[in-house]
Amino acid sequence: SSNSQWGGRFAAGPSAIMQAINASIGFDRKMWRQDIQGSLAHAAMLAHVGIISAADEAAIREGLGDIARRIEAGDFPWDEALEDIHMNIEARLTASIGEAGKRLHTGRSRNDQVALDVRLWVRDAIDGLSAQVEDVMRALVAKAAQHAGTTMPGFTHLQPAQPVTFGHHMLAYVEMLSRDLSRLADCRRRMNESPLGAAALAGTGFPVDRHMTAAALGFDGPTRNSLDSVASRDFAAEFLFCCAMCATHLSRFAEEVVIWTNPYFGFVKLSDAFTTGSSIMPQKRNPDAAELVRGKTGRMTGALVGLLTVLKGLALTYFKDMQEDKEGVFDAAENLTLCLAAVGGMVRDMQPDVARLQQAAGAGFSTATDLADWLVRELKMPFRDAHHVTGRLVARAEAHGCDLAGLTLAELQAEEPGITEALYGVLTVEASVASRTSYGGTSPENVRRMAAEWQERLA
Ligand code: ARG
Repeated sequence: SSNSQWGGRFAAGPSAIMQAINASIGFDRKMWRQDIQGSLAHAAMLAHVGIISAADEAAIREGLGDIARRIEAGDFPWDEALEDIHMNIEARLTASIGEAGKRLHTGRSRNDQVALDVRLWVRDAIDGLSAQVEDVMRALVAKAAQHAGTTMPGFTHLQPAQPVTFGHHMLAYVEMLSRDLSRLADCRRRMNESPLGAAALAGTGFPVDRHMTAAALGFDGPTRNSLDSVASRDFAAEFLFCCAMCATHLSRFAEEVVIWTNPYFGFVKLSDAFTTGSSIMPQKRNPDAAELVRGKTGRMTGALVGLLTVLKGLALTYFKDMQEDKEGVFDAAENLTLCLAAVGGMVRDMQPDVARLQQAAGAGFSTATDLADWLVRELKMPFRDAHHVTGRLVARAEAHGCDLAGLTLAELQAEEPGITEALYGVLTVEASVASRTSYGGTSPENVRRMAAEWQERLA
């Protein structure tokens, strides 16, 4: 038989294959709250402007409340023949309240309805994710405050570069996440307009009040062009970029956790809660959560590229292609939620091995730059010359199998006669980090101040 919602001109129903490829109820039922929220606002508006009666509106409100309770209780009969969340709910409503249910769709189309639902869903996701990002930032700031003075190697090319502090390293991620947070806020601000009332594509002849529904649903106002309203999904693409970027930051952190927990590094220990064992090798402690954070980042990037690819060939306005916007959005939001929770947990439990970090911080001639800077400061040597002298001293130390502070004064003076005992004072890791007091530098003093600032901002 033909479709109960749109089947007027059809003699026969769709083939099983048509139904299978067409139906979205398997995934878009996730938007049931948003769909009901939108319908309630629409019905209230229809009654307010006199398109439907107050009695019809009351019946719709009650019917939708009942449906919400049934869905919540897990006892709603989802029907694939009814394609999607919109028609499942509307058909059910009509089955339970009759005529009034059939009036709900006046001045509305599934095209503006779905555009609305996805926006509401994304907006809720942004709010939830933002709170989670802040939570991870708090965990990182707490670790930073605790380890403002814990020295560790700073790397470029994953080669020892200069000593930094563990707290400074944590705060680097706080900065990245703070930008992710502001990107989410920006995305929210830009998408916060209601498409409801754009109807199929052209607007409607009914005297709908789009400002009223927009306000009732927490939007800043209605969208300004009906074609754009039903055809655009850039808000979803932007959201996916926010997710992919944030996940990328988490993934870089996860990569560091994988490196740091490797016993050859031994920089940090993860808690048992965030490690797994091996089914065959009894000694193993694997950083699986970190690996999965890194791994899941791929699907978020994939969702972004997937949606952009879906949109790029679409003329205005609605095409069924756009039904493909949802799964990527849901999947990205759900996986980012998991990743943020995992990183928050790992950070909170993570135990830096302070002695090991400090020892590693001094390895690899990491204070060579401090030596060169000393030559510039004390001997007024041009930096490029100081770089060469220092390079020769590093070669000497390497040949002796010692570090720079292991060279005798005579050996130092053999390369540069102006060097005095005082030079040894700048070769320690502690002196090196303490000297990095430039704004944004790694000195413990700076890190303590920055951690305190963040603590206040995130309170
Ligand atoms: N399930 C559809 C979607 O997700 C709803 C909109 C359907 N509109 C239409 N004209 N077929 O896009």
